[in-house]
Amino acid sequence: MASSLQTGQPSHRRLAESVVEELWFGDEEPHRTELEASRSLAAALGTATGLKAFPVVLAKAFSLLQKPDESRAKIVALIEQDPALSSRLLRVANSALYAPKRECSSVFDAMTRLGNKNVSDIVAGIAVFGMFSDVKGLGARVRDHSGGVAAIARVLAVEWRHGGADHVFLAGLMHDVGKLLMMQAGTPRYELMEPALLQTPDRVHLVERELTGFDHATLGAHVLLAWQIPSEVAQIVALHHQPGRAFELGEAIGLPVALVRIADRIDIQAGNAAAPDPEFCAALARDESAAYAGFSDVALTAMWPKLLAARADALSTLAR
Ligand SMILES: [Fe+2]
Ligand SMILES: [Fe+2]
Repeated sequence: MASSLQTGQPSHRRLAESVVEELWFGDEEPHRTELEASRSLAAALGTATGLKAFPVVLAKAFSLLQKPDESRAKIVALIEQDPALSSRLLRVANSALYAPKRECSSVFDAMTRLGNKNVSDIVAGIAVFGMFSDVKGLGARVRDHSGGVAAIARVLAVEWRHGGADHVFLAGLMHDVGKLLMMQAGTPRYELMEPALLQTPDRVHLVERELTGFDHATLGAHVLLAWQIPSEVAQIVALHHQPGRAFELGEAIGLPVALVRIADRIDIQAGNAAAPDPEFCAALARDESAAYAGFSDVALTAMWPKLLAARADALSTLAR
């Protein structure tokens, strides 16, 4: 990403010190100055990172897994220190999400078969579900939605011209983490919003901006940097409600954003109906994200059973 994220250059905008220019939503704010809005984001960021920190062993395992030269034995030993983590990791590794040809029987086995990147995705999934295991009601729905979107986006990526897309599972998993944190902080009051609004794509973030000056995509992206998640994932999360901006940045960001957006709508639809609805698939295929990623309604309908199986498996293996 060509940015002050990498260069450490000061932002040309007037934003609060801890707000990263590239992750700011950058729209005109008629009611507040950007500085005011970004200060309220900076305060929420402080609250959010105080509310939730990545569990220590998981954070350490995640960070070691990002290093290509790290010793596999060292990572295995760290993960195996925690038997609950090891067994959950194996359950996810052996689920329909990864569908290994032969069952992975140990953490070492899972790392050999699936590779570091997939294992680090699983570790992050276990971490997020663990961090939000106590949420109820709307929060539990958003947490499960995150797991569903991650699983669906991963299958879409693997199927996409058989090429895959980097970071798509992590981005799906984290895309609404800002909303989970805003719910925990109690601002805004999501329980007072119309239930239909909460299910409508690309609406809630606008209401959040009106009420707080920022949105869950922007907050989530900043929290991910604080959690040491790769900055590309933070940028995908920041732009998941701004596909136009994402597509302008090229395929490395545009494709994962498109896949997360398609997966988001499929996950919501999957909660309402198990069978593919031809009208839904046709409407989704006309959406700019499906057009960008090249998914037709025929392809989406054909993939439906696989998408739903991965979603169901991710939820049952990630949830405690
Ligand atoms: Fe979102
Ligand atoms: Fe979402």
